[in-house]
Amino acid sequence: MTDLLINIDHVATLRNARRERFPDPVAAAKECLEGGAKGIVFHLRADRRHIMDADVYRLKAELDTKLDFELSTVEEIVAICCQVQPALATLVPERREEITTEGGLNVIQSAQRLTQVIPRLLDAGIGDIALFVDPDIDQIDEAARLGATTIELHTGDFANATSPEEAASILKRFKAAATRAHNNGLKVHAGHGLDYDNYPAFGSAVPYVEEVSIGFAIVARSVFTGMRSAVSEMNRLVIQSNYNG
Ligand code: PXP
Repeated sequence: MTDLLINIDHVATLRNARRERFPDPVAAAKECLEGGAKGIVFHLRADRRHIMDADVYRLKAELDTKLDFELSTVEEIVAICCQVQPALATLVPERREEITTEGGLNVIQSAQRLTQVIPRLLDAGIGDIALFVDPDIDQIDEAARLGATTIELHTGDFANATSPEEAASILKRFKAAATRAHNNGLKVHAGHGLDYDNYPAFGSAVPYVEEVSIGFAIVARSVFTGMRSAVSEMNRLVIQSNYNG
């Protein structure tokens, strides 16, 4: 059974485009929960381009649900995450010039910093630490070695496939990666670029996925249908598309 968590960053993107107070990402998060989301995801970027510090503190104070705090290993943000103590911290790569998170963490190259940050987050009382990685066996083995509890598979390559044949071939890599993570004792999450069209193929082909984190497609759909309905429609797909071997 896979849980759907909603990333609300782009509600804040819209608010910030006009330097307004609305739409409020915390109010949107409450609507997501009404629509059946099992938790809320946000990325506090060093440049604060969407979610701001005040949003994070309000999400923590006002919501009684699982929070997934996405962050880079930048010291200032790690300190905020330790203070907020979400149920899950997901470490992601971050480049100022990117439009969105472009690929997984290079866990092998970043091992030195991660060996400082992972124990710090765990010591702060955050029970679950995920590393956002591409479906690469070496990266997954290193994530386990460094003490992460979870990997989130970056699904961008799958989402960008231009034919069903290409998607099917890419999904074999995801299946192998998820199985490797599971055998290493890691929990498996997934996200990036998943939407109403591509999710069923992913959900039915990749085993062990406990959570998916979906943002842009749902926020975009909500412009037409409202957030509650956009979430419940995706939730239906997630429930219907469980792994079937
Ligand atoms: N998971 C992670 C770690 C992310 O950084 C993002 C946003 O880039 C997502 C999931 C959600 O991606 P999307 O907004 O494309 O659904």
